[in-house]
Amino acid sequence: MRSDEFLSVADFERRAQAVLPRCVFGYVNGGTEDCLTLAANRAAFADVQFRPRGLVGVAARTQAVRLWGRDYAHPFGIAPMGVTAMCRHRCEADLARAAAAAGIPFVLSGLSTQPMEQLRDVAPGFWYQGYIPGDRDVIAQLLQRLRDCAVEVLVVTIDTPIGANRENNQRNGFTIPFRFSSRLLWDGICHPRWSLDVFARTLLADRQIPRFCNVTADTRGYAITEEPQGGFRQGRDRLDWSHLAWMREAWPGRIVLKGVAHPQDAERAVQLGLDGVIVSNHGGRQLDGAQAALAALPQVVAAVPAGYPVMVDGGFRRGSDILKAMALGAAMVFLGRPMLYGAAVAGQEGVARVIDILGAEVDRNLALLGCPDVNDLDEAFIIRS
Ligand SMILES: Cc1cc2nc3c(=O)[nH]c(=O)nc-3n(C[C@H](O)[C@H](O)[C@H](O)COP(=O)(O)O)c2cc1C
Repeated sequence: MRSDEFLSVADFERRAQAVLPRCVFGYVNGGTEDCLTLAANRAAFADVQFRPRGLVGVAARTQAVRLWGRDYAHPFGIAPMGVTAMCRHRCEADLARAAAAAGIPFVLSGLSTQPMEQLRDVAPGFWYQGYIPGDRDVIAQLLQRLRDCAVEVLVVTIDTPIGANRENNQRNGFTIPFRFSSRLLWDGICHPRWSLDVFARTLLADRQIPRFCNVTADTRGYAITEEPQGGFRQGRDRLDWSHLAWMREAWPGRIVLKGVAHPQDAERAVQLGLDGVIVSNHGGRQLDGAQAALAALPQVVAAVPAGYPVMVDGGFRRGSDILKAMALGAAMVFLGRPMLYGAAVAGQEGVARVIDILGAEVDRNLALLGCPDVNDLDEAFIIRS
């Protein structure tokens, strides 16, 4: 990869579309039903405009942020994404290493296929995102595994009690559990680089079909082609606030709720003593018609005490997008697909380039905005229409 060929996240998206089989790109890129929320996430940025200040002196700029006493080099991180093994052999290690090298948070999805204990050895400091089942025994064992792995931040996704209606996956013949079909075979033949670099390498190097080995305390997990005992979603639809209250007692680390859209859910997180929330609609991949993430952010920020960490994801593609969220009170912005496009195109180097591009855009726009410290951004720098 000649990294200077890629000037923006959009360049990576175009290249990822070319290298990935249609069904895999569709899985990453797609939304649900009519993709209203997917589109709304992007459109919301046009409703927030900057009001730059001049003559401030912007020669020395910083975009470092601090969260729970930890310093991060940029105000953005990598959102949890499941089944990334479809995009790149050992993709999670590429994402985790690139994040650790750049000093940004990486959230490991529970639906990942490299054991968290291995990732801790190559890139410690990742956060873990769980699809937590409504079963205290299973949760207790998972928490013990996370403690043993020195995970400090547990992200609980609350917008996925059941699977969503992703018609594009059905049309492309893409299912989880993964099933081979003639359509998929043809897709692979049309993408020989992917068939060699991802499919063949995974089977040859790992000598097995990737396994979901981080869902629970069971380190063996189950193959991505298997329907596990108790069903793929393992009773997630039983999870409710009582489980979170119990987890707060049982888990001494940070707990963050991901998928918060309603201010009252954020209020409840504060009351329960949880450590933060991520305003998110799962990148438009769950409830179609849900409000855009950027549009939902101000109400959530207003519902919690000043300084309580409200993070956000969904549709962020530019440094300027990130600055708009920071001006609206976000403590951190997460990006999903852009990071996966980087990994699909060029592994760790591709993710590093995406991070560099976004970091450079944040830096340049801080100067043009007349706000040399990202932590000083507030509503005075924007207008909402
Ligand atoms: C391929 C893919 C897989 C995802 N898997 C998960 C997951 O396992 N857990 C989760 O909480 N969110 C998951 N998400 C949602 C992301 O964490 C995040 O909310 C979303 O991607 C943000 O939108 P963006 O892709 O526009 O940046 C996934 C998103 C994508 C694109």
